[in-house]
Amino acid sequence: MALSTTIYNLLEDQYKIELGNQYFYTALGAWSKYYGYDAAAHYFYSEAHGESKHAKWVRKFVEDRGEQFSFAPPTYTAPNITDYASMFTMSMEQEKNTTAHVNLIYGAALQEKDYIICKCLKPLFSIQYEEEKEITDIVSKIISRGGNPNDTNAAISAFNADPAAIHDFECFLNKKYN
Ligand SMILES: [Fe+2]
Repeated sequence: MALSTTIYNLLEDQYKIELGNQYFYTALGAWSKYYGYDAAAHYFYSEAHGESKHAKWVRKFVEDRGEQFSFAPPTYTAPNITDYASMFTMSMEQEKNTTAHVNLIYGAALQEKDYIICKCLKPLFSIQYEEEKEITDIVSKIISRGGNPNDTNAAISAFNADPAAIHDFECFLNKKYN
């Protein structure tokens, strides 16, 4: 069964988003590496690797339906990285936007009764759910250490201004993800 133009275009967009995420996390990893935050660098480079796998899955959804996959450049705007903690809040936004787009494809596939695509999307959904939850927990940890859960910006600033907070957080990342 051929893919509808709508689903095809949405999958191509998803591929571009996943590739863009790969570039995004690579940029965060490179910034972390340069400033000596090795645990964050390892975390972001691992995320970048995961994103390239998601892009391949999406390409395979298209190819498994007998469609020619047209390679599209990533949806990518270089992140403006100014400090340690903001890399994690930016990552949370990135993941939320990615989840929203997977939801969009699922909704379109349901509407068209394209249940094969619905089934294909399930592993992408579960990984997306885990990633969004993980980064949300990480951001909560940063904000609570920063000291003011009702004022995210103040908490982020306080966290960045406290070398011990960054050091402890690097230890946490190292222990959990290395
Ligand atoms: Fe992804």
